[in-house]
Amino acid sequence: MTADVDPVSSKQKASVGIQVHSRSEKATGRQAGTDAWWRHSVIYQIYPRSFQDTNDDGIGDLRGIVDRLDYLTWLGVDAIWISPIFCSPMADFGYDISDYRNIDPRFGTLEDFDHLLAEAHRRGLRVLLDYVPNHTSDRHPWFLAARSARDDPHRDMYIWRDPAPDGGPPNNWQSDFGGDAWQWDEATEQYYYHAYLKEQPDLNWRNPLVRKEMYDVLHFWLDRGVDGFRVDVMWHLIKDDLFRDNPPNPDWTEAMPPHKKVLQIYSADRPEVHDVVSEMRGVLAEYGADRLLIGEIYLPLERLVAYYGRDLRGAHLPFNFHLITAPWEARHIERQIDEYEAALPEGGWPNWVLSNHDKPRIAARVGREQARVAAMMLLTLRGTPTVYYGDEIGMSNVAVPPGNVRDPFERQVPGRGFGRDPQRTPMQWDSTTNAGFSAGIPWLPIASDAADVNVEAQSSDPRSMLSLYRKLLSFRRRSDALTIGRYTKVHASKCVLAYLRETESERYLVALNLGPQPAEMTVPGPCRRVLDTSGGGAGQRIQETLRLAGNEGVVAEMID
Ligand code: NOJ
Repeated sequence: MTADVDPVSSKQKASVGIQVHSRSEKATGRQAGTDAWWRHSVIYQIYPRSFQDTNDDGIGDLRGIVDRLDYLTWLGVDAIWISPIFCSPMADFGYDISDYRNIDPRFGTLEDFDHLLAEAHRRGLRVLLDYVPNHTSDRHPWFLAARSARDDPHRDMYIWRDPAPDGGPPNNWQSDFGGDAWQWDEATEQYYYHAYLKEQPDLNWRNPLVRKEMYDVLHFWLDRGVDGFRVDVMWHLIKDDLFRDNPPNPDWTEAMPPHKKVLQIYSADRPEVHDVVSEMRGVLAEYGADRLLIGEIYLPLERLVAYYGRDLRGAHLPFNFHLITAPWEARHIERQIDEYEAALPEGGWPNWVLSNHDKPRIAARVGREQARVAAMMLLTLRGTPTVYYGDEIGMSNVAVPPGNVRDPFERQVPGRGFGRDPQRTPMQWDSTTNAGFSAGIPWLPIASDAADVNVEAQSSDPRSMLSLYRKLLSFRRRSDALTIGRYTKVHASKCVLAYLRETESERYLVALNLGPQPAEMTVPGPCRRVLDTSGGGAGQRIQETLRLAGNEGVVAEMID
């Protein structure tokens, strides 16, 4: 497999991306190659349908993102990851792609995309795209051809099987959106496999043609100058070649989605997937060492870290979602951090995520006050953080009435709390109509508290969530200890979690009260408060005992 190229290749020099790197090298004094940009960056996830609408159709678009780039640089993030913007029938809101090389007209045009990329790069912002290689739309020309006849040359680009002897599906694999993962095709009398909707047939990554075509898609966007990809459901790409039944999950409860009734050990996370991931990494490496590969992977830690790949030739950042699933308890989270740090391969760089478009927002899980503490945790742990749009103003989940449900998961498994519309509602910019998101009818409802919870209101309030995010981001940007420094655990009681972040020249104590009651802890040495979630107390010296208010987090500089 191709190794990462360093120094930069001529292709990379020709791209706009290199200008971005020069800027951040200048800003940080760090050199390309010795310290990749994404190690000291903060990624911001944009769900494009909900970010900013400029053509009044109630759906966000690329021009809307361009209009908000100054906000993002003001906020202080370094890269944006945009959820899928490619041509799609929208059965799964863009995760069902019918043309990988074009922009869906709802979002704009290729010219709009090039403009967005140039404008982002001009501001020093990197742009990451969502790459969806596991499945296409059932309207993709490859699938239309594949289902036209058994002997069509595209047939084997997808996964077709004969029925089981009883005429039913070939095995017990379940769709992650509920129900059987096999769809009967009447015309050609075989089943095809879909890990998600039947409108999202899985590609057959054992077929070299699929690999070639899908790597060409990566080239297409890399040639335009994108800085990397978040790879959708990376662990699903390769399935068992013998199509064995998944075993039952003895720990399944009614609170879990139906597909978790079985353990997906044969339908996902197969050993051969790592060859595919390192091939993808090889494609990126042709453009220099700077293009970033992130994998979406929901797996236990020991299996997650395998996605860094042999000799770190896999994903640069296999997304770590363990803070999303963890109970919000200090001891538990400390253990989680320890286990993650211990499981990382030598040289593997950590990362942390609190929310995304598939999971309830952090403010909905832990409450608005505690979400401030969570923000401090996200932005002070060792590793690249990803911020989900709207979390920086404390957006919470928005109840969507049954008649207005848009999410296919909620439609297929209704009323069980798995629906994802509540965390995908429009960004709250100001207190005008539709929170400044759209002059049309928004595709999902606007939060009822948007008149108060919005960017404009919070930007002039020094104690707001937005001001806290800005302070944390700016502090982090200026501190090597907080970005690339060591992590050392210090203390975990029922509610308080504390750790040190340090380099040879800087030492910070981070102390987080994960509960609503006041708490205290003994500090590892004299220190001085430099930043806290409540916005007061900076400069105060702490000799021995740090007193934390309920829902308070503190960053303190160690003095000795
Ligand atoms: C993971 C994406 O994050 C989710 O939104 C989507 O529904 C599934 N993959 C299927 O593509």
